[in-house]
Amino acid sequence: MPRELITIQTGQCGNQIGMEFWGQLCAEHGISQDGILEDFATEGGDRKDVFFYQADDEHYIPRALLLDLEPRVINNILASKYANLYNPENIYLSKDGGGAGNIWAYGFSQAEKVCEDIFEMIDREADGSDSLEGFMLLHSIAGGTGSGMGSFLLERLNERYPKKLIQTYSVFPNNEEVSDVVVQPYNSILTLKRLTENADCVIVLDNAALTRIASDRLHIQNPTFAQTNQLVSTVMSASTTMLRYPGYMNNDLVGMIASLIPTPKCHYLMTAYTPFTSDQVEKAKSVRKTTVLDVMRRLLQPKNKMVSTNPSKKSCYISVLNIIQGEADPTDFIPWGPASIQVALTKKSPYVQTSHRVSGLMLANHTSITSLLKRTCDHYDRFRKRGAFLEQYKKEDMFADNLEEFDSARESVQNLIKEYEACESPDYIHYGIAKD
Ligand code: GTP
Repeated sequence: MPRELITIQTGQCGNQIGMEFWGQLCAEHGISQDGILEDFATEGGDRKDVFFYQADDEHYIPRALLLDLEPRVINNILASKYANLYNPENIYLSKDGGGAGNIWAYGFSQAEKVCEDIFEMIDREADGSDSLEGFMLLHSIAGGTGSGMGSFLLERLNERYPKKLIQTYSVFPNNEEVSDVVVQPYNSILTLKRLTENADCVIVLDNAALTRIASDRLHIQNPTFAQTNQLVSTVMSASTTMLRYPGYMNNDLVGMIASLIPTPKCHYLMTAYTPFTSDQVEKAKSVRKTTVLDVMRRLLQPKNKMVSTNPSKKSCYISVLNIIQGEADPTDFIPWGPASIQVALTKKSPYVQTSHRVSGLMLANHTSITSLLKRTCDHYDRFRKRGAFLEQYKKEDMFADNLEEFDSARESVQNLIKEYEACESPDYIHYGIAKD
């Protein structure tokens, strides 16, 4: 029985990374850009139906919703070679088309206004699934649409589908550069509250780290979004490979989440990937010999982490899952039980040639994520103290009378930081249990 996932992509960033992701999935499943199964793609041992369904005319169609408050990015998708791939009924573009102007509150309230239209699409996709496992939200937390509309959808999805999983691929802004989005600390804090309270698993993608990897590892100075998005789609495809090329273990999302997330709130996962080669990212160098152990060693090196955190002396791993793809030799591992780092050996798509034998993705739940959260809080606190740029938020009902929502979001992120810090102590087991 397929365990289907519905992908919801919102805003510029969400739709752009979505476009790369679907391109990658089509290649890996032998599906043409028009959704037609290639002649060679018959014996792949893959599960196409987790992410695609077949229309009456046999076309494969992504279980995807494309949502935006401005038309540019979605129009680009519709003018691209993938124009015929998507279900046109699953596209929502705002009628006035001006975007959310980087204001979370606007994105949130617009989503509320058009929520019936959007949930009609979501419900239709859910009804069309045999055994829906959950939803994947792709978005950035810094702009207005992906963060605001994304936050609204997280709240509502949770209410409407309480038993389904919600996983997000959330792009964190580059805090090390002057941003094009001045109010990103506000948008980020407000979104983090929903990511903490309404999502089951957040894969953190961090533009600062993506830019660093592009320049240090791939020698691409000033990478374009198209290039960083190839890094992102590589991570997304590797992290979903267990679902699409299933083996005996780890073949659904709930299994993966259960093994990585022992407590509900601490559900932010970092990634590392190696090797990036020119198969996935234009201009990347070709790679030397790869072996399972070499890949596993590299996955733990800080330079390959795709999140910029500053681990303290106390920072530690809560859990690690290494997804090893390719010609892995199972005899590298003890035959009688799980290795102490969880390892999933998965197949590679037979339709995509790569120049290296083995590649790996690490998904890790690590307490140093607090450094990223604290940096976001610091930026927010500085802005908030000055009362900077609040007028646009006060135009929306949620903030018209007071700014309590900001305080509540800040508190929610603070509680998350506290809980991750408590995980570093041996008596975490008693965390949150009131003492007499
Ligand atoms: P509005 O523009 O206000 O309607 O909201 P939006 O959600 O469309 O904004 P956007 O997605 O552009 O969010 C801005 C943040 O996302 C900034 O931190 C950008 O650096 C980042 N961003 C935008 N597009 C991309 C992308 O294609 N890839 C990556 N990695 N980051 C992106």
